[in-house]
Amino acid sequence: MGVVRNLRQVDADAAGVDIAFRADVHAGLAQRQKAIPARWFYDTIGSALFEDITALPEYYPTRSETDLLTRHAADIAAATGPARAVVELGSGSSTKTPLLLNAIDPSAYVPVDISGDFLRGSAEALAARFPGLPIYPVEADFTQRVTMPDEIADLPKLGFFPGSTIGNMVARTAIDLLRNWRCALGEASLLLIGIDRIKDVATLELAYDDPAGVTAAFNLNLLERINRELGGDIPVANFSHRAIWDDVHARIEMHLVAACDMEFTIDGRLYAMAKGETIHSENSHKYGARDANLLLRASGWTPVATWDDADPAFALILAEATAFRSAP
Ligand code: TRP
Repeated sequence: MGVVRNLRQVDADAAGVDIAFRADVHAGLAQRQKAIPARWFYDTIGSALFEDITALPEYYPTRSETDLLTRHAADIAAATGPARAVVELGSGSSTKTPLLLNAIDPSAYVPVDISGDFLRGSAEALAARFPGLPIYPVEADFTQRVTMPDEIADLPKLGFFPGSTIGNMVARTAIDLLRNWRCALGEASLLLIGIDRIKDVATLELAYDDPAGVTAAFNLNLLERINRELGGDIPVANFSHRAIWDDVHARIEMHLVAACDMEFTIDGRLYAMAKGETIHSENSHKYGARDANLLLRASGWTPVATWDDADPAFALILAEATAFRSAP
């Protein structure tokens, strides 16, 4: 068995509720355009629903990325070299990880995820599958500064950031995050990142609003979670899921739309929503080839290789930490 240790805890109150969740919900609902940060989707139920989304016929990104990792495993291994510590940001159930670990034969694996239950389960499954591979799970919000386990201090790192998760951040936040990880992973590091491309609107909207309603359930679970954990009485049945393409921001926006005027309380605080008003719950930005390269370069990462699929378009990009003094 590989070694599973190093688990950290997020800050919770006496009732075990994440302090930041409560603060984000109240702050987000006080805004004129109500909005709740998307990372709160991923409680145990939300994480499981997200896994269901990745299996939907309309949701192409997971299949495209898995295909790319499978087809180009040898090239990726040649470009990254062996004996790195793979640090995966937002590992979730780590379904794509075995493909990468098989291909590149790393010296350690560090999954970083905010959902502790999920993290523990998948770390154990991977440990059974890769005996001898040291695994150091870190329960943390990867958008914050994360300290790397001491055990991998001397290894060159390969950041693995699949799923086009970078697209869930606005550009400024995406750049902050990539710059932070450039620092955390260090001088000789590499980054393998999945980025979804801009494509026709119908394909995009269907991927985020499937006829079976799984994405809707995923979105609505955010409200259920508020009711469960923060003592809310939100009438969830009075909300519906909406996913629309915004061409100016080059992103899919997900909203929770109020079907009627309503009032509800959370933690005893009163909120009112008018019919048609929305809670903005997610963005999924899409990037053209040059956009993606610019995003990386602006963040201290120099793209060195791209493996991509044309239909539906999706890209895996390998970038190296830009040297502090590099050529113009
Ligand atoms: N990053 C992926 C994407 O934007 C996965 C994802 C995040 C997602 N939030 C989502 C997928 C909400 C569907 C719905 O595609």
